[in-house]
Amino acid sequence: MITLISNIKELIQVEDSPKKMVSGKEMKILPTIKNAFLLIENDIIKDFGNMKDFNNISVDNVVDASGRTVLPTWCDSHTHIVYAGNREQEFIDRINGLSYEEIANNGGGILNSAKKLQTTSEEDLYIQSAKRIEEIMQLGTGAVEIKSGYGLTKDAELKMLRVIKKLNSNYPITIKATFLGAHALPIEFKNNKSDYLDYVINEILPIVAKENLAEFIDIFCETGYFSVEDTEQLLKAGEKFGLIPKIHVNQFTAIGGVQIGVKYNALSVDHLEEMRAKDIDVLKNSKTMPVALPSCSYFLGIPYTPARKIIDTGLPLALATDYNPGSTPSGNMNFVVSTACIKMRLTPEEAINATTINGAYAMGLEKTHGSICRGKKANFILTKKIPSYGFIPYSFGNHQIDQVFIEGLKI
Ligand code: NIG
Ligand code: FE
Repeated sequence: MITLISNIKELIQVEDSPKKMVSGKEMKILPTIKNAFLLIENDIIKDFGNMKDFNNISVDNVVDASGRTVLPTWCDSHTHIVYAGNREQEFIDRINGLSYEEIANNGGGILNSAKKLQTTSEEDLYIQSAKRIEEIMQLGTGAVEIKSGYGLTKDAELKMLRVIKKLNSNYPITIKATFLGAHALPIEFKNNKSDYLDYVINEILPIVAKENLAEFIDIFCETGYFSVEDTEQLLKAGEKFGLIPKIHVNQFTAIGGVQIGVKYNALSVDHLEEMRAKDIDVLKNSKTMPVALPSCSYFLGIPYTPARKIIDTGLPLALATDYNPGSTPSGNMNFVVSTACIKMRLTPEEAINATTINGAYAMGLEKTHGSICRGKKANFILTKKIPSYGFIPYSFGNHQIDQVFIEGLKI
């Protein structure tokens, strides 16, 4: 089936040969074609170009995009979408003065979500999570990474990963799974962190690998959670099973997580709200993508990742939502793009590069997602009638999406 999107006011993020990512000054460049066409065959982009160069071939469908912009769907490289219930009460507790840390120390936080998830059936967890998948697709996300980490027991972690797998088979959105067994220390292991790590490494990880339930491995490398040494131990173990690191680092404190990520060839290091000069330096000449999560900073009222500094140093940057019940109950990439422009002083071009091609790279999907390129997935957003793509971040708190196509189908 061939579909033509015709008379596109502006086609965004086009490329003739697929690039891996964009860094530094290049991030200010967003290649576009005005008065464009886009031709798709089944789930793949077949051709694109200027309307005047369109050879009149016979097509099955025509979508007239007069006055509208077309851009690749968002690539959200960091989420925890599979969870049970919510943490609305903690939101109120924070309004009333408790900190995120105090709530966690009182048995709330990640342990609160783990308690809920452990007693939720796999079927129910699937239903709750599928709603969020449907919601983010409507908001323009075409590829997403989802972590485990609210299970914290063998059964519950595997339950989460099986739900992620099932979501991937049942929805057109591309889903990548990450094993985050080392997200927090369960109460039973309160004074036995090394026992819990051994349990994660020896009891859960081999099954995750054997059943092919995750491609990536993650750990919350943070004061009060897991140390740099713990991180090294886990990443070494993951490496043996071919799991690639994508890790939570520098959210509240800078303790050397970025360095250990780079040492173990992490695909990404995520959060980075607290960055020292040496944390930025070690990322230079590495293949590790720094990932910022501005909605998390917004919701928790913590500092924003110094994204300007990261890009001005010549590094790439990806942006993701961190959709989870505790620190970011939102999977809206349109809000992420706006917040990056407003609070991190990214230009619209930088923010769109960070949420498309660089987000794809941070999930190992740059060959198939993240740009309008012949042979890539036919994943794109058709906007409402807007004056220009800068209107997307400008109209914050809103979105400018009219239609979303994933794998060639309007969702
Ligand atoms: O990325 N920081 C660690 N993990 C999540 C939040 C976990 C939670 O509060 O449930 C995050 O912010
Ligand atoms: Fe996270």
